[in-house]
Amino acid sequence: MHTLSSSEQAVRDYLDTGLRSLWYPVIASWELGSEPLGITRLGENIVLWRDKEGVVRAIEDRCPHRGARLSRGWNLGDRLACWYHGVEVDGEGRIRDVPAVDNSPLVGKKCQRRYSVIETQGAIFLYFPTVEGEPVPELQLPRELSDDSYSNFLCVASWRCNYQYAVDNVMDPMHGTYLHANSHSMAEGNRQAEMELKPTESGFVFKKTDQAGVNFDWVEYGNSGALWLRLSIPYKKCFGPGGPFWIVGMAVPEDRDHCRVFFWRIRKVEGWQRQAWRFLYRTKLEKLHWDVLEQDRMILEALDPAARDLENLYEHDVGLQRLRRVMQKLAKAQLARRAEAESSQGAGH
Ligand code: FES
Ligand SMILES: [Fe+2]
Repeated sequence: MHTLSSSEQAVRDYLDTGLRSLWYPVIASWELGSEPLGITRLGENIVLWRDKEGVVRAIEDRCPHRGARLSRGWNLGDRLACWYHGVEVDGEGRIRDVPAVDNSPLVGKKCQRRYSVIETQGAIFLYFPTVEGEPVPELQLPRELSDDSYSNFLCVASWRCNYQYAVDNVMDPMHGTYLHANSHSMAEGNRQAEMELKPTESGFVFKKTDQAGVNFDWVEYGNSGALWLRLSIPYKKCFGPGGPFWIVGMAVPEDRDHCRVFFWRIRKVEGWQRQAWRFLYRTKLEKLHWDVLEQDRMILEALDPAARDLENLYEHDVGLQRLRRVMQKLAKAQLARRAEAESSQGAGH
């Protein structure tokens, strides 16, 4: 086993809780009702709520008074009230009222971190900066999620493993032929393949050279404000009209040992075909896809957290190795930016 240098270890620790300067989907829209909701993402405790217009607000889940979880409190629309002593904090993280005393000097003070929020495609995305106050980039989703001629269903699952294992799993098309050999969509084709890497606009494609349009034959990684993986699987005629079945996947770390995966299942279908497909999906296909996802979950949750230190990779792992290097490079750059911000802050005092 290769022992890591201290800088390699720092990069690994950083990556384990998630790259930053990215948008991440954190929950499905349907999970946030009228009550405040406390979640942990990238190791941070965050409270989300909807204001009176239904717009999502997100701030640190910690009361500026004595640290109670604001998610245990009350949704007053433009602000939350802490359950412990009633302190009110708004969506900018600013204290708006301290009801237990008159004229508190705390009122107006901005104490809590706030998060930029976008709600789209059935999910709530938050932006996680590397350094507080950095400019927030636009979130550009792949064509299959931004073009109206496609129709999608979002499937969200919580897995008890580091998110990097979930990412590796999608960067590995060959597992479809084995792990999902009995599934409705991945039973066909060769059980051996030659694979190659090709650069794309915002990432790269990893694909089989000798088979296309048969099984899970290629996967693409992209970074367009969020990290995403995209693939398509051909669909038999009996699964209704429309082109191939697309999947866009994203993984968000909760903490070192837990993550959430977001998979949009998509087809290019319009008009009556869209109705037919959506009906078929709900009544028949959804269950089959959950079965496939369960197979992934069972393998990944049973991996030793140290599995990556004991690997013997071969040609089919070139895609995930490349992606690991891309992520390590981003992590290094972000660590350097943080160190720089800290030292210039120190110099200012
Ligand atoms: S801890 Fe929240 S009001 Fe006191
Ligand atoms: Fe899988």
